[in-house]
Amino acid sequence: MYSDRINALPPYLFAAIDEAKAEARGRGVDVIDLGIGDPDLPTHPHIVEALCEAVKDPKTHSYPSHNGLYEFRKAAADWCEKYKGVKLDPDTEVLTLIGSKEAVAHIPLAFVNPGDIVLYTDPGYPVYKIGTEFAGGEPYPLALKAENDFLPDLDAIPGDILKRAKLFFFNYPNNPTAAVADLAFFEKVVEFCKKNDIIAVHDNAYCQMVYDGYEAPSFLAAKGAMDIGIELYSHSKTYNMTGWRLGFAVGNKDLIKGLDKVKSNIDSGTFEAVQLAGAVAMNGSQACVAEMNEIYKERRDILIEGLRSMGLHVEPQKATFYIWAPLPKGFTSIEFAGLLLEKAGIVATPGLGFGAAGEGYIRFALTRPVERLQEAVERMKKLQF
Ligand code: MLT
Repeated sequence: MYSDRINALPPYLFAAIDEAKAEARGRGVDVIDLGIGDPDLPTHPHIVEALCEAVKDPKTHSYPSHNGLYEFRKAAADWCEKYKGVKLDPDTEVLTLIGSKEAVAHIPLAFVNPGDIVLYTDPGYPVYKIGTEFAGGEPYPLALKAENDFLPDLDAIPGDILKRAKLFFFNYPNNPTAAVADLAFFEKVVEFCKKNDIIAVHDNAYCQMVYDGYEAPSFLAAKGAMDIGIELYSHSKTYNMTGWRLGFAVGNKDLIKGLDKVKSNIDSGTFEAVQLAGAVAMNGSQACVAEMNEIYKERRDILIEGLRSMGLHVEPQKATFYIWAPLPKGFTSIEFAGLLLEKAGIVATPGLGFGAAGEGYIRFALTRPVERLQEAVERMKKLQF
């Protein structure tokens, strides 16, 4: 019944975890869910109010324009200039997205021919690989290792791979490792992509989830990046809007055009009332983002301290709401995630789910309140691994 394309796929990582979680809840387990990176707190009230106002205007009820509402694209361009120092033309260099996931999946359809290689960082968001496969491309993982600060070693890629490489997906602040990259690394990526004629796709979904004074740069701020690159932003994590499905792509106008061409043939855009509320989020005070970061920082410190007290080597990360913890000795990541769920009612994501190079780690998302994290630590301590 299913296509070869679908038959070749394992279940989507978070769909499989959802099933295990539902099964445990069905058995009456009090589950502490630190699995998917889905903020537990609601969208900030001023954004919800903006949606309620916008939806009253019947103009927002029709099909949206294919590349997004001007007000949203202009707000995105202004936001990028104000917070990332990148100047963009809202008409040609910004595109509204239905969340950044769809862009990750659609970008290979726009630029990758069957047999082309797509480089991607591993461990990584599963859609880099899956989107590539859907387009008939060949995914080529670049392993992220602790000893390289979870940055890929671009110099280690074999020449025959580089010859066939068309596109490179990377993501800093990084999911799942929580690693960050500086502008010098992005400049190296620009040089590498220009030299090898590769399109750079930077997933910047976590750039506003930052702690201890850290500021995450835009890839497009690197010299020459606009010539070869596209960057994806998401309202999901920044403004607690995962369910709204809203984001934007920015970058080189020909790349934006290619993605727009795929999208306009496949989807019908983002509800304009949602875009107007998203513009309010970007145009207004960013105090709500800072407040969220304070909440995540407190949670981070509690879980880090708890994991350290169990002998796991974790450092407080500068960005993202993920803790990427090395496993205790004697476990695979699937075994350890299974143990946490079975014996402690804790959902965490096995590193292997993010790619082969994720083996040896487990990811905790800081998506539950302090009391639940304390409870999770107490339950884990009892496991005595
Ligand atoms: C994650 O948990 O890795 C992400 O939240 C999943 C997503 O953004 O789709």
